[in-house]
Formats: sequence, structure tokens, C-alpha cells
Amino acid sequence: MRLVVFSGAGISADSGLATFRDSDGLWAQYRIEDVCTPEALARDRDAVIHFYNIRRKELLSKEPNPAHYAVKELEQYYDVEVVTQNVDNLHERAGSTKVLHLHGEMTKARSSLNPDLIVDIGYRAIEAGEKAPDGSLLRPHVVWFGEPVPMMEQAKKIVLRADILIVIGTSLHVYPAAGLIKYAPGNIPVFLIDPDEITYSERDVVMIREKATCGMELLRDILMEMLATEPAKKVEQTEPEQMPLSVQPVDDDISMPATIVFGDIHGLTFWKKVVSENPGYRFVFLGDYLDPYGYIETEQLMNNLKEIIQLKKDRPDDVVLLLGNHDLHYFCSDMVPSSRFDFLIAEEASALFRENIHLFVYAYQVDNCIFTHAGISEEWFLYDFKGDATKNIAEQLNNPTPEQELSLCRCGEARGGEPGAFGGIFWADVSELYEPLPGYTQVVGHNRVNDVCDHANNGGRIIFCDCLFYEKMLSIGQLSHKASCIDRE
Ligand code: APR
Repeated sequence: MRLVVFSGAGISADSGLATFRDSDGLWAQYRIEDVCTPEALARDRDAVIHFYNIRRKELLSKEPNPAHYAVKELEQYYDVEVVTQNVDNLHERAGSTKVLHLHGEMTKARSSLNPDLIVDIGYRAIEAGEKAPDGSLLRPHVVWFGEPVPMMEQAKKIVLRADILIVIGTSLHVYPAAGLIKYAPGNIPVFLIDPDEITYSERDVVMIREKATCGMELLRDILMEMLATEPAKKVEQTEPEQMPLSVQPVDDDISMPATIVFGDIHGLTFWKKVVSENPGYRFVFLGDYLDPYGYIETEQLMNNLKEIIQLKKDRPDDVVLLLGNHDLHYFCSDMVPSSRFDFLIAEEASALFRENIHLFVYAYQVDNCIFTHAGISEEWFLYDFKGDATKNIAEQLNNPTPEQELSLCRCGEARGGEPGAFGGIFWADVSELYEPLPGYTQVVGHNRVNDVCDHANNGGRIIFCDCLFYEKMLSIGQLSHKASCIDRE
């Protein structure tokens, strides 16, 4: 399992290095604009170089603390990668083997002209007028305010692949670094260690309000317990205990044209092969085209969506595109932003959806079979959406009144919404679908499953097929005669 540690100045505070923003921090003694910007270097080079010379010398007298060593020790159990905002080398000196410095390194200097021309200077001072090998003035190898953060892309990739994320000793004030957490898969545990209250509302985090040393000790016990009880299993796939899902392939006929259903896409491209190998089928995409779990290049992510849209344009009658909560949050202000919302693609994604919105629907229905992104509970449909169960359901969902629109976007209690609320067709959690709308077979994504599986109760039935991640799709209808699970392999 991959464990990622995202650290800030607080982890080195226990070694005696000042943080930046605490009351006794560096920014209480210095002004950022005097020592930590390219303009400051241009204005008063000596003062800036002197500031870093002092700090480099100070670093020599400091030692890694038990928190740094605890991070290193986790390598015995996990594939540990450290992404640090710190320019000190205490993680490396504690023995951590994979450390990525987002903001540079104190023991290195670089050319003023070429950011890639970096030289090791150890703990010595940079002399007045000292030159880099290319003849330009040598400057500290530190990312200053207003400068690009070249390691950011690499850091994103690391966080995107995490199975566990530990955030330690950072105020999360400085972007883009502070935005890294949103790249963590939505279903992994995130631990935040800091003696101060750190407000992070974009996802669930386990807050450990302790200094780094004590916090890492507590966390080590938690991690050891997790390893003992669930070896090599992601915390992700736990479903609420009360949910009586029968995890079996669907094995009876559904009367409809031969149809293949793709669960939440999240940048995955398996659909292309399946589409080309299955002429004569209808294809239903259950939505969530963006916000990938694993690492997928932004370009591939956006191109995949464009290709899906093109498929719909080329074969309008054979292709149905639904929208999911991870799509709507890019262009619908009533939508609660979901995990992994990517601000970097927001503008492009929003424009793409708006331009092609006529190609998407909220719901699709063939006789008594209804497709939505997350599912329709009886409770939500009758009492929140206030639908009419005697009329065509998809038509009502696709043509909501303004009040019904709010209801469609409802996030239920199980996913962080109002107490007592049931999620609408973009958010319904598996635990809110215990009593599906009676009289219908529903096909839904949104709740990750390892395999196509179904749940029948209340005179209704739901087939869950958000398992594209495991390269599995649902096939129903006439060509196959049976509803079954297609395993791409
Ligand atoms: N253990 C753990 N955390 C601590 C401790 C400690 N002993 N002492 C303080 N902290 C916490 C503080 O409560 C605060 O939340 O560490 C955090 C330090 O925050 P900042 O000083 O803002 O440092 P950081 O988040 O790393 O700053 C980010 O800002 O100035 C720039 O480039 C610099 O990389 C730095 C970036």
C-alpha cells in the first residue's frame, strides 16, 4: 500500500526549527516581501542571501526528531513517499528514501538564469557575488512567493496514487501546495496532525491534535491496528453493514434492446474497445467522466470526455450519456462540490459540458428499467422530489421544476448532507437505497462495487455497476438474452 506523507514546517518544529506562521514563526520576525520573493533578491540581494545563509547554518545544528524517524519507520510496512514543503533535509537525515521537496532545498543553490542548473552547496554560505557554472549569480534553491512550483505535477501524481495520506505540520495556507490534498482519492483515509485546529472542510479527515512527535506515535498505533485487522485492503470498499446487497451477477432477462452499461468513467478508456467490439448494441454511460481515482493525465481525462461526446454525436440513437455528481459540480451552482474537484480543469470542463449539454440526460428509461447516476429511493422520489409514481419517471426527472431541480441535486445525510435527508439521483448513497422506487429495475453507478451486483426490496430492484475501475461492465437485453457481467479480460 502506498502511504504518502505531506509535511510542512510543523514537523521540524520539534527539532527546533521555527515554523513560518506561528506567533514565534519566521514571518513574525521578517517580512515575506523582504526575503522571500524574486523582487526582494533583485532589490537587496545581500539581505536575501544572508537570510538563507543563517538558516542553512542553523540547519547544521539541528537533528531529525522522532516524528521524522517515525515516518522513516513506516517504510517497513508501506511504500512511503514524502512530499514536503520544507527546505530542510531532516526527512532525508532520518533515512526516508523517497522525499520530494516542493519548495526547494536549503543545501542546494541554483543559477539565477536557469532553474534546472542546481548545485550542492551543503551547509556553507553563498558568498557575495558567487557565480553559478553558467556565469549567472548563484541564488538559494528555494521556491519563492510568486514563482512557479515545478515539482507540483510530480507531487500530484504521488498523492493521486495514495492509499493513505498523512498531512503533518502545515497550516495549509500556501497554494498550490495546500491544494494537494484534493488530489487524494476520495475513499482513502486522510490523517491530519497539527497541535492547532486546522479547518479542512472539503472531505473527511481524521484530525490528530498533537505536536508532530506525539501525533506520529498515536498514528503509528492506528496504522498498526489497521494493518493487523485489514492487511493490504483499502479502507475504501466498506459498505454500510445493514445493506443486504446480494453480490452476484444479475441472471434474469430484462426486456430491452441489447445494451451495455458503463459505470462511472473517471477518465477510464475501456469503453472504446467494448464499443468497437460490440456492434448493434446500445451504450449507456452512467456519468462521472472526470475526477479520476488513479493518476490520469489531465489531457487524457479531457480527451476521453471529448471522445465520449463525439461518440454520442456520431451515434445519437445508440448512445445515452447520463450526468453524475462529479460532472454537475463543474457547472451547476446548486451542486455540492464532490471530492477531487479539480480547479485546474474547472473552466474547460464547465465550457465543454455547457456547450454539449443537449447531449446529456439526467435519467433514461426503457419500459420499467430506469438508468440514473446514483439511483432513486422511494423516500426521495415521493417526499423530496415530489414525483408522480404513476407517470414516466425519467421524463419527470429530465424536466424538473425549479424546486425539483434542488431536490435532484440533494446530497443525503450518508454523504454529508442535512440530517435525515435522502440523496437525489446524483448523490444517493447505497445505504439510502434500501427501499428503491417500487415497480422498477434501476441501473446505477455512483456506489463503487467490485462486480455488478443487485439489491431487491420494496417491490423494486437496483443493479449497481460502478465497477468499470475493475474493468467490468453490465450487459442487458436482447442480444445477450441475459443480464450478465462483462469482464473485459
Ligand atoms: N508539530 C506539528 N505541527 C506544528 C508544531 C509541532 N510541534 N508546531 C507548529 N505546528 C503547526 C502549526 O500549528 C501550523 O499549522 O505547523 C503548521 C506550520 O504552518 P506554517 O508556518 O504556515 O508552515 P507551512 O504550512 O509549512 O508553510 C507553507 O509557506 O512560507 C512558506 O515556503 C514556506 O513551505 C512554506 C510554506
